[in-house]
Amino acid sequence: MGRAICRQLAERGHRISVLDIDGDAASAVAAEITGSGGTARAGVVDVSDRAAIETASTTCAPPRTRRDHGDECGHRGFTEFLDITPRHGPLMAVNLTGTFHCLQAAVPDMIEAGWGRIVTISSSSAQSGTRRMSHYVASKGGVIAFTKALALDLARHASR
Ligand SMILES: NC(=O)c1ccc[n+]([C@@H]2O[C@H](COP(=O)([O-])OP(=O)(O)OC[C@H]3O[C@@H](n4cnc5c(N)ncnc54)[C@H](O)[C@@H]3O)[C@@H](O)[C@H]2O)c1
Repeated sequence: MGRAICRQLAERGHRISVLDIDGDAASAVAAEITGSGGTARAGVVDVSDRAAIETASTTCAPPRTRRDHGDECGHRGFTEFLDITPRHGPLMAVNLTGTFHCLQAAVPDMIEAGWGRIVTISSSSAQSGTRRMSHYVASKGGVIAFTKALALDLARHASR
């Protein structure tokens, strides 16, 4: 989904930073975009690692993207509720805390630029509930609630 979104945005003329924990995958997507005449860079980041996000935000995106150019993760696994163990913890760290960290790193630059758009990726399962995915559904429901709260917090910065 991230690849498709990047390609669509590139086709509409946007300059793209492709960030992924899998550097080869990120590079491949960036290469596809540049090969099609677009502008893209690739970077490696684990969205559950706040320090890595801070580094990426200064070396790759979004501030460097904006200055240089002029301006999901997803973990899924079907597991019965009582079989969910702390080893499933990274799912919350990636889907929910990772979204929180990435936006805390990105929003200051949007405020400085006076412009920004945020698209978070949740899941329809957060509306309906899905069997054997209570941990995933909890993380994605958190993304929806977080996005609504963030919209209220950031509304005062919206000028256009
Ligand atoms: N595919 C679906 O049917 C579906 C449905 C509802 C919601 N979603 C959500 O959409 C998003 C994308 O789903 P997808 O199907 O394209 O997944 P995918 O597995 O194809 O892609 C996920 C990408 O995230 C990267 N990634 C994983 N952990 C990471 C981390 N810690 N830091 C940085 N990158 C990391 C992976 O390397 C991979 O490139 C996810 O948030 C998923 O929950 C997907």
